Amino acid sequence: MRDTALQVAEEAADLVRRAREAMVAGDAVQVDTKSTDTDVVTAVDRASERLIRQRLAELRPDDQVLGEEEGGAAGDGVTWVVDPIDGTVNFLYGSPCFAVSVAAQVGGVSVAGAVVEPVDGRRWTAVRGQGAWLDGRRLHTSAPERLDLTLVGTGFSYDRARRARQAAMVAELMSRVRDVRRPGAASLDLCAVAAGWLDAYVEHGLHRWDWAAGALIAAEAGAVVSLPGEDEELGPDATFAAAPTIAAPLRAALLSSGIAKI
Ligand code: IPD
Repeated sequence: MRDTALQVAEEAADLVRRAREAMVAGDAVQVDTKSTDTDVVTAVDRASERLIRQRLAELRPDDQVLGEEEGGAAGDGVTWVVDPIDGTVNFLYGSPCFAVSVAAQVGGVSVAGAVVEPVDGRRWTAVRGQGAWLDGRRLHTSAPERLDLTLVGTGFSYDRARRARQAAMVAELMSRVRDVRRPGAASLDLCAVAAGWLDAYVEHGLHRWDWAAGALIAAEAGAVVSLPGEDEELGPDATFAAAPTIAAPLRAALLSSGIAKI
């Protein structure tokens, strides 16, 4: 399943990279909005998901697919959870920070996954119980010793009221950690925790396709991970991933920052 996830993610990443090159060269890309005026979907997101669905139908005809753009539901067996472009706003602005994310889940639990970056070409993969890799190199989290030396990634909802509360949490956190990053693609933030490029990551309100592959990659690199529905105190829809040395103090700092109200 890891090989299948990687194969279809690479094929979709190739499509997205070529579309981006055409866009940079001046081709117009059709853009629509979803939950809010800032929550965008492009024709390239849709084409990428169509390709992934087509390839999965050929390679794994009995499995279900849940995708960001076309929806779907988890079945009894294997469900492929697909984000055809994670970081769509970055894609639209010409930034290279976006990825195709594909995970295989059984009973709602990720068992294999791949995150592929169309521009930089990085390929992140993991298999449950067997580790995580970046282009064949085994991944391990960082090991910060103090909260004030911890680099934390986060992201913000497309809903304005909620993002104001998220910003308030970040304001509380800023004086207690080394710094905060908001690169704009949740799957890559989770991969960054796996590689030690971030010490931790927290975000509320992610969808399953945002975290399905990346959270497995972080966990298999040794991160302490909690997913939406797993840590009520952090919030019912919190995604949290942290290097083990800093997970408990960071969680405590988040709780004292009023995170539960987010
Ligand atoms: C978004 C990105 C972003 C995160 C948002 C996600 P999209 O996904 O992962 O970093 O902060 O919560 O919705 O819309 O680019 O697929």
